[in-house]
Amino acid sequence: MKINHIQSTPFSDQKPGTSGLRKKVRVFQQPHYLENFVQSIFNIAQSLKGGLLVLGGDGRFYNGHAIQIILKMAAANGVKRVMVGTNGLLSTPSVSCIIRKYKADGGIILSASHNPGGADGDFGIKFNISNGGPAPTSFTDAVYEASKTIHEYRIADIEPVNIDTPRRFVIGDMQVDVIDSVADYSEMMEQLFDFPAIRSLFTSDQLQMCFDAMHAVTGPYAIEIFEKRLQAQAGTVINGIPKEDFGGAHPDPNLAHTKELTDRLNSPSTKTNFGAASDGDGDRNMIIGKNFFVNPSDSLAIMTANAHLIPGYKDGIVGVARSLPTSRAVDKVAAANNISCYETPTGWKYFGNLLDDNRITLCGEESFGSGSNHIREKDGLWAVLFWLNLIAVKQQSVEDITRAHWKQYGRHYYTRHDYEAIDSDIAARLMEHLRAQSTSLAGKRFSSYQVQLCDDFRYLDPVDKSVTEHQGVRVLFEDESRIVYRLSGTGTEGATLRVYIERYVADPQQHDMDTQQALAELIHIAGELAEIKARCQRDQPDVIT
Ligand code: G1P
Ligand code: ZN
Repeated sequence: MKINHIQSTPFSDQKPGTSGLRKKVRVFQQPHYLENFVQSIFNIAQSLKGGLLVLGGDGRFYNGHAIQIILKMAAANGVKRVMVGTNGLLSTPSVSCIIRKYKADGGIILSASHNPGGADGDFGIKFNISNGGPAPTSFTDAVYEASKTIHEYRIADIEPVNIDTPRRFVIGDMQVDVIDSVADYSEMMEQLFDFPAIRSLFTSDQLQMCFDAMHAVTGPYAIEIFEKRLQAQAGTVINGIPKEDFGGAHPDPNLAHTKELTDRLNSPSTKTNFGAASDGDGDRNMIIGKNFFVNPSDSLAIMTANAHLIPGYKDGIVGVARSLPTSRAVDKVAAANNISCYETPTGWKYFGNLLDDNRITLCGEESFGSGSNHIREKDGLWAVLFWLNLIAVKQQSVEDITRAHWKQYGRHYYTRHDYEAIDSDIAARLMEHLRAQSTSLAGKRFSSYQVQLCDDFRYLDPVDKSVTEHQGVRVLFEDESRIVYRLSGTGTEGATLRVYIERYVADPQQHDMDTQQALAELIHIAGELAEIKARCQRDQPDVIT
């Protein structure tokens, strides 16, 4: 096998964000752009030399092209064996599962998660380490440094290989196993959950489910698990065929992007009474009942309170973690059950150490992500199965389970307001302004809310003692309400300001308010404190979840 050493010059913008390197497809299409970044990964991940690499992606535009390049570069960089998903498809949670199961040295996932795809959309690449989780910041920083000085990459001089069916072949000294994309993952789900109990929900017609795969990677997984293994009726999975542009839609499972699904649930003429969706790469989830939406922060709290009812967690849980902006609903459950609750910066990578150190069993984020120690990524279908198992045990609807939870622990009204594509300098100055105020806000009153504490969130990892600064400005009020501000680390255009607002209400008589109304006063305070209107020239957020 001939290996070409291609001369190349560095790009200055290959700094990974919250979740890998994410850019417009057009940026990735620049000559040598992808190759430079992949070579930087190989230069840092020394264990891949002579090691096992797992490779796959969410099927978006450029996925197939990138897979061929990475296979050729892996062979040229001394990788011993690659396990690649059939047609290059692997969901993010299944990559994590496969890395752990086969003791791989790392994995490359091609995805821009919930961002739109297609030639004008986004593409992304992330690296997961041998525990199955996203590479820590120390690793991604090193890759970034390497990308700034790179001058050549190595690539095997071969024709494209056929990966459209499971098989084994070699490229030079490297063995390639094209694997069934869904088998290992589905088997793992069957071990964690009570499949017979869930199956009887479907076969007895007690539950009619609609799962929206959003033309993204979970389609084949959902058909295998729900329709085949659990015998939900054919057609349960909608938009189940992965497409390069996700059918022109936005593969982000929230109420704004799942109209077909919510129409099915809310139409009086259907019997559909359980709905769920997942995102581009299958790590997010949305759970809905008939005319009822489960806030992801509540979902984490409900899972924590009920984990002992699920076979995979029957011995109880050791602790939980949530990202800073996630509501504190789970904190109430942890306190009541005397288990530890950790608050981490945004992004799944911060949960890895806590899971590896057996400090937590479950973790989650407000951004439609939840997961457990079964892998080291958030896991969309896992969350759906968790809810199905809960319904089977409790024999209650999604709404009844959630309302009973609020009654016991109180309700956290919660919303996130996003201001997208703001000029990066304006956004940076807005955050600076908030930071500058943060030391003097404690004790101040804004209408009926008194500030108890305000700071710029700093995380001390209790396991490796690393410190991560500037993770968001949080304003805590005396009545347990809270506002958090931070800038997105996954956007590809300008900056996105995220404002997270929550209010705790213990009284069950007040659990029926409209969320935006319940939070109206705090929303107003949030706008005033950050001077959003004056600084960003925006009257309204672009997205409300
Ligand atoms: C967003 C979410 C965050 C999630 C990440 C990757 O990051 O807010 O919770 O981990 O996507 O899915 P952000 O754009 O806010 O940096
Ligand atoms: Zn995702």
